[in-house]
Amino acid sequence: MSKLTAPRGTFDILPEQASVRAGLERTAGELLERAGYGRIETPSFETTELFARGVGEATDIVRKEMYSFDDGGGRSLTLRPEGTAPVCRAYVEHGMHKLPAPVRLYYLSSFFRAERPQAGRYRQFWQLGIEALGSEDPAVDAETIVLLATILARFGVTGVRLRISSLGSPATRAAYAEDLGAYLHANEQRLAPAVRERIDQNPLRAFDSDDPGTREVMAGAPRLLDRLEREDAEHFAAVRELLARAGVAHEIDPTLVRGLDYYTRTLFEFTSDALGAQSGVAGGGRYDGLVEQLGGPPTPGIGWAAGIERMVLASGEHPVAVTPVDVYVAFEAGRTDAFATLTALREAGLAAQMELAGRSLKGQHKQADRLGARFFALVEGESVRLRDLRAGTEETVDRHGLVDRLVGT
Ligand code: HAM
Repeated sequence: MSKLTAPRGTFDILPEQASVRAGLERTAGELLERAGYGRIETPSFETTELFARGVGEATDIVRKEMYSFDDGGGRSLTLRPEGTAPVCRAYVEHGMHKLPAPVRLYYLSSFFRAERPQAGRYRQFWQLGIEALGSEDPAVDAETIVLLATILARFGVTGVRLRISSLGSPATRAAYAEDLGAYLHANEQRLAPAVRERIDQNPLRAFDSDDPGTREVMAGAPRLLDRLEREDAEHFAAVRELLARAGVAHEIDPTLVRGLDYYTRTLFEFTSDALGAQSGVAGGGRYDGLVEQLGGPPTPGIGWAAGIERMVLASGEHPVAVTPVDVYVAFEAGRTDAFATLTALREAGLAAQMELAGRSLKGQHKQADRLGARFFALVEGESVRLRDLRAGTEETVDRHGLVDRLVGT
């Protein structure tokens, strides 16, 4: 029969990789919890409407990257492509706006996007993300960015660059989008066809294009950062000042665009030189209108998400900590006694392994060596020949006294 493989763009997390990821999860979890973030996990699928309304109908994500399906009862559901809209949905659903602000949440979940697979880009991937809801204080913007910079540094992500910008208010952005659209139409013949098609839908995406002609046009395009209203400009200046004080290096990039429609004011992205074409390791921003758009009260919010796979790729080799084996339980005959011994040792909290592959006594010794076991316990009826592999000594003990003999060694 032909061999089955995992679907394109998906991957298995094998034990070695799982332990690297567990290390990251522990480090990040501790850091975030100390900063007041509580973990939240939402369902793997949501109503399609949540993402259409939250992420935006004109985005690539909603237009062509969602795994949507009928639930059998005529309702359309979608495997979550991102975490911000679901967290805001949960915030409203559970009345979290009644809690003292800011409400700080983090998640470590898998997400699904029907993107063209390549190194660092998958169809099921994992994100570590945070959302802080209920405050528009620039110090919350700075706090989230500083936490992200710390997590990336602790995990050893190299060649990190932070770019930030501000989108201002939805009204400023809408007026700007209209002017930018007019500018693009005036230069239409020099734009790539894909950009030309999207002028009226999402003109800001033109800044994302790699096409040389488009890039030339964009170099002369009007900039949103130059048009911010006074309050938004002051907010942005305050965020930058706080970041500088915290020692977080950043560049202002007025052309920064992100593929989600909910952003307002602060916008940022961390890239890493250690990654190839998919250099974005984490990104986020403010979304002051999103909660209201999902039926909640007007609530400012800000957050980010970091791709776990990209963090691992950008941080090089990780020494894998192997759990040391205390005792290797060997036997030649009498599996039942050996098994009872194994169970008793494990109950006493020792890391014990037992022969399970029918090896000869010599083979069992080799296996104990491979596992780096400290003791080799050969069970022979009611007694055990116990060899201390480190000291090279051997003694015979009563099988029922083995746990007492070993606990505390
Ligand atoms: P995003 O930029 O779409 O933002 O994704 C955040 C990160 O997830 C990216 O920087 C990247 O590391 C990782 N990522 C995205 N797509 C893929 C993929 N196909 N394969 C592997 N990794 C991927 C968001 O999702 C927003 N919800 C972030 C946010 C939170 N904004 C505010 N709060």
